[in-house]
Amino acid sequence: MSADHGHAASTPVPPVKLKVDVKQVFARLEPRCQEIAAKYDRRQAALIPVLNLCQETFGCITPEIEEVVARFIGISVTKVHEVRSFYTLYSTTPLGRHRVQVCRTLSCALLGAEDVIERVGKCLAAMPGTTTPDGRVSFEAVECLGACELAPMMRVDDHFEGPLTPEKAEEIVKKLE
Ligand code: FES
Repeated sequence: MSADHGHAASTPVPPVKLKVDVKQVFARLEPRCQEIAAKYDRRQAALIPVLNLCQETFGCITPEIEEVVARFIGISVTKVHEVRSFYTLYSTTPLGRHRVQVCRTLSCALLGAEDVIERVGKCLAAMPGTTTPDGRVSFEAVECLGACELAPMMRVDDHFEGPLTPEKAEEIVKKLE
């Protein structure tokens, strides 16, 4: 099954300062952002596609990126921040080569999400909300990903895995290179 955007990223992570010059990189992206914006009657409708492009380019959406996007679209930083925080697709720290998001909401929780989270964390030697030091996997515990029929489940990059046991989850995570 393919993944949709999901919502409500919930693992708190401190904002990071990127090594690249955000304004300079965004200036290079701007022609593509203008093309995107031109497709919509209301410029605000371009917010999500522009954020997607930024996530793809920067690997995350930091407060500084929220600012340049807000200026580009012509809306408040608060509005951009609200939208960015709503979708699990957007990360606030640069991601590893793979992204593992284990759902911890009710349906998944009732069927053992906590054990899955614990096993994945042990296997990666990482806490939810962090990336392994080798940059292999970013690991998160998130709210409902909209695939409750697969509970307990996780999203690995762009696909859903479930129903999981801790053993199955470990097997999947171990194969990520
Ligand atoms: S509760 Fe886990 S996907 Fe919905």
